[in-house]
Amino acid sequence: MSAAPRADFPLLAANPGLVYLDSAATSQKPRVVLDAMRSYYENANANPHRGAYKLSGISTEVYHDARREVARFLGAADADTLIFTRGTTESVNLLATAWGHQHVHRGDRIVVTRLEHHANFVPWQQLARDVGAEFRICELTHDGHVDLDQLRALVTANTKVVAFGHVSNALGTINDVPEIVKIAHAIGAVAFCDGAQGAPHLRVAFDDLEVDAYAFSGHKMLGPMGIGGVIVRRKLLEAMHPYQFGGDMIEFVFDGDTTWNVLPHKFEAGTPNVADAVGLAAAVRYLDALGMGVVRAHEVALSRYALERLAAIDGLHLYGPASAEARSGVVSFTLGDIHPHDVSTMLDVDGVCVRAGHHCAQPLMRALHTNATVRASFYVYNTAADVDALATSLAKAKARFHAHVG
Ligand code: ALA
Repeated sequence: MSAAPRADFPLLAANPGLVYLDSAATSQKPRVVLDAMRSYYENANANPHRGAYKLSGISTEVYHDARREVARFLGAADADTLIFTRGTTESVNLLATAWGHQHVHRGDRIVVTRLEHHANFVPWQQLARDVGAEFRICELTHDGHVDLDQLRALVTANTKVVAFGHVSNALGTINDVPEIVKIAHAIGAVAFCDGAQGAPHLRVAFDDLEVDAYAFSGHKMLGPMGIGGVIVRRKLLEAMHPYQFGGDMIEFVFDGDTTWNVLPHKFEAGTPNVADAVGLAAAVRYLDALGMGVVRAHEVALSRYALERLAAIDGLHLYGPASAEARSGVVSFTLGDIHPHDVSTMLDVDGVCVRAGHHCAQPLMRALHTNATVRASFYVYNTAADVDALATSLAKAKARFHAHVG
């Protein structure tokens, strides 16, 4: 049983033999998302905010309706504090550049965790280099959780920001967001959360989380590529300098200086990506109709089954938390001494799509004493039969390689 009918997803419906287990990289798109984007271009396309004519007004309305819909889905009452970006990577760069250069100085400390994707690691590392701040990494417990005792010790009075992921893309670990925020706030640091792997799988209640900013990507939550965003506390956003300059984000431009538009426009320079915002709004409506509780229960059940099936394969080494409840729908592993890229290529012969490599988390891989893992990641359209196909294909791959396993 899947949480969503495979028939809703044109690519999956057209390829019955495809076992798509790479949703942590990008999700497949339901027809309602594709239809919504097409309908925007067929019925409402015009440059928003710029025309006094009716069609431009319709496009403006549609764009802001999409913002309200996504903000509502993520539990943010103040929709104008949701800034649309190209995705989580741009959102973190926005924070590290616009907020970071204003607030982090020589001698300050930036804290990240060992679990971070490069997109929530490198921008902070480079900010630290630029301004002469300390860049510190909180290590993990043996089962792939952030070591909260170490974090408490690392977050000292000179710490300005704690940047951490909601869910690890490489191991699936779900972080204790309220506790990490509490540790940051106890000394007056801000807490920025990379929600790229959280928002698609877990109910996010931004206004209750107390986190200062939450970044996300549309394409991992059934929406199109090229749209995502970040929700930021209004107080922080209003004090922040703009990140990019251009049309729409200005109030008045004089020969010698410029004043800024109100939120959210101040941080959205240039023609906005309306069609993709509309697609993302359709995606969150689709997720809402399924129910995020159902999505989560489905993924826990699949992960539990996958952990069981994979643990039974001799020589297969699992990474990350032992229990399905402590992770999102991600299972990361190595198979004996077979290179993960070879495993992935062999699985592909059977139509099984997984990601293999460092998962944009090289500092984590180094700490795990490996170069790479194979990662299977589940979403609403996957079934137990997909897990069976993965296990069968892995057994075949092992036999074909005559691997030195065990
Ligand atoms: N961040 C994406 C992944 O984990 C690309 O695969």
